[in-house]
Amino acid sequence: TSQMELPPRPTLFDFHGVSMTRYFTDNWDNIQHFEARPDDILIATYPKAGTTWVSYILDLLYFGDTVSNSRSSVPLHEKIPFLEICVPHRPTGKDLADQLPTSPRLIKTHLPVQFVPKSFWEQRSRIVYVARNAKDSAVSYFHFGRMNHIQPEPGEWSCFLQNFMQEKMVFGSWYQHVTAWWEKKQTYSNIHYMFYEDLIEDSRKEINRLCSFLGLSPTAQQREHVRSKVTFETMKENKITNYSTVPTMNHSVCPFMRKGTVGDWKNHFTVSQNEQFDEDYKNKMKNTALFFRTEI
Ligand code: A3P
Repeated sequence: TSQMELPPRPTLFDFHGVSMTRYFTDNWDNIQHFEARPDDILIATYPKAGTTWVSYILDLLYFGDTVSNSRSSVPLHEKIPFLEICVPHRPTGKDLADQLPTSPRLIKTHLPVQFVPKSFWEQRSRIVYVARNAKDSAVSYFHFGRMNHIQPEPGEWSCFLQNFMQEKMVFGSWYQHVTAWWEKKQTYSNIHYMFYEDLIEDSRKEINRLCSFLGLSPTAQQREHVRSKVTFETMKENKITNYSTVPTMNHSVCPFMRKGTVGDWKNHFTVSQNEQFDEDYKNKMKNTALFFRTEI
């Protein structure tokens, strides 16, 4: 794809109290009227929490990856539409979701909980929410902004980190995203809330927990197969999952499958940035029981 076809980098604006870009708001009315089904599974995250990882786990659990399965060669971002995406010259995520032939449909979103189309709640669709600690999320988001043309220019790291703390990020505040979804889980029982750090620590256990939530009972051998397909190294080499086919992403700046660890923030935060961040974090998160690990 030539450079000319690249959409321009967007700018942030306030959208009902949340920082957003046009690529996730231009199709708003259609998104809000999306017709969810009872067996849909929504994968919801703040960006960079491990969306792709959990998406691939769910895809393998539901649809497998045998060679006879034509689905197995389709990139993940086509099989699991990104509901709110609306980029020039590409089908919208909403249209892709409408056209999905599978049951269940796996659908991805980064929307804060208050923006989720109401049909998901009405249909009582199941939702898998993945959260990742703020520091590693910020670092991952920074590098993602560098390599992905549909993100605003991230600028210098120090500046980006200030913007993260000031909640001026695409999809808004990390702090509000993770806490509001956590609150929602207290009243809506069909949410499975999971953590990136737990997946890193013990993917077998987390896959088992996902299976229980979804009512799936794969054999031990099938579980082990899924686990072996979703390691960082394997997914990094796999063109279904590494986004190497997406024209807006420049993997020579930074690969999408970048590091895949807990604690890489230590290689980015200065001592004083870390102190300032911790102080501000304590204040922003003082009313929640939600706890994140920044190292394991
Ligand atoms: P890093 O930038 O820290 O490496 P998302 O899919 O939500 O955009 O999240 C992307 C982040 O998840 C990236 O983090 C990416 O490397 C990491 N990731 C993706 N697949 C992974 C896997 N199998 N194991 C560990 N981390 C993974």
